[in-house]
Amino acid sequence: MLKGLLDLHNLLRWLILILLVVNIIKNFADTNKPFANIHKKLGLWLMICAHLTLVVGLVMLAMDLSSLADRSMIMSNDALRFKFVEHPIAMIIAIVLITIGKGVAKKNVSDLKKHRKSAVLYLIALVIILAMIPWATSSLMPGM
Ligand code: HEM
Ligand code: HEM
Repeated sequence: MLKGLLDLHNLLRWLILILLVVNIIKNFADTNKPFANIHKKLGLWLMICAHLTLVVGLVMLAMDLSSLADRSMIMSNDALRFKFVEHPIAMIIAIVLITIGKGVAKKNVSDLKKHRKSAVLYLIALVIILAMIPWATSSLMPGM
């Protein structure tokens, strides 16, 4: 169960990274064009992947936390602190930024502002996510 969740979480990373890059490029490239259905759809797919990753992450976190024998070690151990504190908090911040970025499309502002604001929020989220993925300890694909 946990392995399956970790594999799903691992794979969703790539979908989020690809969708972030595509959303950023598309919004920046189309700043002077109308905020159209394609921009909404791309944001929606990003949102679904980000929220799915959040739910899977929360479930894994709760399961791992409940099976951890000594929780007093979490803050003093670098690996445990990364897994239980730094990674989740940073990623939740990134997912909040993605959610706000997607929400911009519904605001009563010009299309230029919609493109710019969502692209900038997605860009900050991308930087946080790239920085906080456990590249050194995770495989690039499940099973590798
Ligand atoms: C811990 C669980 C979750 C939380 C706290 C959460 C939170 C939120 C929040 C705050 C919004 C923004 C609402 C708005 O301002 O319009 C939202 C929208 C959305 N969520 Fe989640 N969500 C969760 C799980 C999921 C899951 C599992 C999915 C799908 C796989 C999902 C898909 C979406 C989509 C597609 C939207 C955008 C709707 C739209 O703008 O049209 N969420 N969610
Ligand atoms: C954009 C959001 C996120 C991305 C891209 C991401 C990415 C990753 C990656 C690549 C791994 C390693 C997977 C592996 O070893 O196969 C991982 C592990 C993990 N993530 Fe996330 N994550 C995100 C959000 C979250 C959130 C919001 C939580 C919790 C609330 C979370 C909790 C965890 C946990 C508990 C692990 C397992 C660590 C371990 O076993 O060492 N993640 N994450």
